[in-house]
This record gives sequence, C-alpha cells and structure tokens, in this order.
Amino acid sequence: MYESVNWSEDGTPHSPRFMDRYHSCAGGLAQAETVFVAGCGLPGNWRGKTQFTVLETGFGLGLNFLSTWSAWETDPQRCDQLHFYSVEAYPVSSADMVRAVGAVAPSEGDKADLGRIQSLAQQLASVWQGLSPGIHTFHFAQGHVVLTLAVGEVGQVLPALDCQADAVFLDGFSPSINPDMWSVSTLQAVALHCRAGTTLATYTIAKSVREGLKQLGFLVTKCKGLPPKRDRLEAIFQPS
Ligand SMILES: C[S@@+](CC[C@H](N)C(=O)[O-])C[C@H]1O[C@@H](n2cnc3c(N)ncnc32)[C@H](O)[C@@H]1O
Repeated sequence: MYESVNWSEDGTPHSPRFMDRYHSCAGGLAQAETVFVAGCGLPGNWRGKTQFTVLETGFGLGLNFLSTWSAWETDPQRCDQLHFYSVEAYPVSSADMVRAVGAVAPSEGDKADLGRIQSLAQQLASVWQGLSPGIHTFHFAQGHVVLTLAVGEVGQVLPALDCQADAVFLDGFSPSINPDMWSVSTLQAVALHCRAGTTLATYTIAKSVREGLKQLGFLVTKCKGLPPKRDRLEAIFQPS
C-alpha cells in the first residue's frame, strides 16, 4: 500500500499524514535545482571525481533525485558514477511520482529539461514496485547512476546505511511537524556519513537545525532563498 498524496487545484502535492506540502510553492523542480543541487555545489563538486555520493533524508516524490540525475546526465564533466542514497518511511506510488514531474510550472525550466526529467521519471516508475521495508537498490544509465533507497523510519535505517556522503540533502517536512527528520540523533547519524568537506543543503533555517548542525561540526551559512522563501541553508562539514 503506497502513501496517499493529495493534489491541490494548482497541482501542489500535499501529505495528508503530515498536513504539509511536499515542496515549496515555487515548484518541486525549482526547489530541487536551487536549494539542493546548486546548494550543495553541484554540478561543480562532482567534476574530476570517479564516484560521487549524495545522501538524502526524505525521498518523497523523487524530485531531488530526478533533478540530480538530470544535472549529472547533462554535465559533460560529470563523475563516472553517481550514487544517490535516500531514506523514506512512506513511499508514494509511481503514478504520483510521474504526476509530480508533470505538474511543474512552465517557469520551472525549458521544454527540453522537462522532457528529459519526465523520461527519467518514467524510468524510475518502471522499477518502482515491492517497496517493502529494507534496502532497495536500482541501477540506471548502464549502472552509472545508482539509487539506494532505505525504506523505514529514519531513526532506524539512516544509522545503518553503508555510505560516505559527498553531499547531503536534508528534506523532511517542516521541522515543527516532522521533528524526527531533524532530531539531534538524525543529524548525528547524518554527520557519521560525512567526511571533511561534505556539503549540505536544506530549505529550512530553523534555529534548532542550524544549532544542531553547528554542534556537529558543520559551518552553516544562511543564503538567499527561493522566493517566496527568504532564506535557505548551505553548510560544509569541517569537524575539528
Ligand atoms: C518534503 S518530503 C521529501 C520530498 C523529496 N525530497 C522530493 O524530492 O520529492 C519529506 C519526506 O520525508 C518522509 N518522512 C517523514 N518522516 C519520516 C521518518 N520519520 N522517517 C523516514 N521518512 C520520513 C515523508 O514521507 C516525505 O516523503
């Protein structure tokens, strides 16, 4: 049984469980590109590397994954392998994932970009089945793009993931209504998967998240947000 998604008239996906929207009202792909992909210094940071690993909390509709894959696919200087790890307790249906890509605003990208991301979404949808709790690994682009999805509660599956991240996307629902995704123990588990220089991005500037990250050794910067949000967060792991 997949997680229900409610679609508002303007095409925005909402979670009835958390009573929150899946992404900014500026659009899911715009948020993915601006807040997460660019916020983590991509595509530049994967250039010159053989392998690059992204770790995400909250796979949701897969827009961050699809946007990262698309940025990788169109970068002539891309790394040889992109490995994307994500954690999700409540997987949505493939129909909702495809719908999310179809629902983007025309202002969110040119037609070629949208067409490419829609075709990547179809590839993801074609393997999206039987998502029982546990680890699921999917290979795309002749094995050059790997998605490892840990289905389960973040507190259980995140610490057990075997990965070292070059970039981290923190993308739970709003910290006030989804505290498990932003708890001290979740942030600690994230930090355990980081190395010096790992970049991190998120849409929230909640004080508890900023302070939690600082205490774990992240240098945190408030940046100009994607309108209508005023701010977003970028960070880099520099443990002492
Ligand atoms: C804002 S959405 C993520 C959007 C997603 N990154 C995308 O690109 O579409 C947050 C996600 O976190 C998941 N989530 C919330 N609480 C969780 C928990 N305790 N453990 C694991 N996943 C959780 C939700 O089910 C939801 O899919």
